[in-house]
Amino acid sequence: MILIDGKKTADEIKKEIAEDVKLIVASGKRPPHLAAVLVGHDGGSETYVAFKIKDCEEVGFRSSLVRFDDDVTEAELLAKVHELNSDPDLDGFIVQLPLPKHISEQKVIEAIDARKDVDGFHPENVGRLVLGMPAFLSATPFGIVELLKRYQIPTSGKNCVIVGRSNIVGRPLSILMSQKAVNATVTVAHSQTKDLAKVCAEADILIAALGSPEFIKADMVKEGAVVIDVGTTRVNAPETKSGWRLKGDVKFDEVASKCSYITPVPGGVGPMTRVSLLQNTLLAAKLKK
Ligand code: GUN
Repeated sequence: MILIDGKKTADEIKKEIAEDVKLIVASGKRPPHLAAVLVGHDGGSETYVAFKIKDCEEVGFRSSLVRFDDDVTEAELLAKVHELNSDPDLDGFIVQLPLPKHISEQKVIEAIDARKDVDGFHPENVGRLVLGMPAFLSATPFGIVELLKRYQIPTSGKNCVIVGRSNIVGRPLSILMSQKAVNATVTVAHSQTKDLAKVCAEADILIAALGSPEFIKADMVKEGAVVIDVGTTRVNAPETKSGWRLKGDVKFDEVASKCSYITPVPGGVGPMTRVSLLQNTLLAAKLKK
């Protein structure tokens, strides 16, 4: 069994990005600039955004954090999106999800200029992804495909089962995995799938992205399978300093010994998701004239 080291791979990519930034700056241009919009004080969102800002600093990007309280109106948030769209000193931005219930996430996403949508959530970018056109790819799917590539894991003709069909992970990943560059035969499984354990057990590449801690057990995994765990659920852990720990969607201790490759949680997909946002921002900066 090979443990896929997402942290090490992400660090390698960060070094490559930092080299690129040096070249950009040496050519007289400003460094790439990412902004993050954060509404409210959700613990998970605060952490994710803080990481995104830290990642930017590490590779030499500029970063900006725009904060709103929970009671910001949809109109105020949309006005900020329009302002960021037309800011020439900004290459890309993200609006951290989830948003408070009184704001339509879809409306906000659609208001973002697709050329600055480094999350790859805008319908134009999703459409471009489906058509195999150059696009900003949703960060987690992008990171997973990059991991498979860098570990030279064979994908062509393989049975890939994705558990979960979210707009951010499962669905875009299913498209990427079926494209010619990857050539997997893809099944998207979900809560209504019959005989889920049997479907999973037929996977050469099993990707768990349903957000249910330790859902995937040993009997759902084929001997020699590649298992990618996208789960990052916070569970109570009084023994830790923070009081919580991250749990994946895979029962790692009983599944790992059956796998040819497996990603840990933390340290697997997570760091790759973070680095994908940097890759998209670098691309946005390069595409900007
Ligand atoms: N919430 C959870 N994941 C993400 C992400 O990748 N981007 C944004 N904007 N919000 C998220």
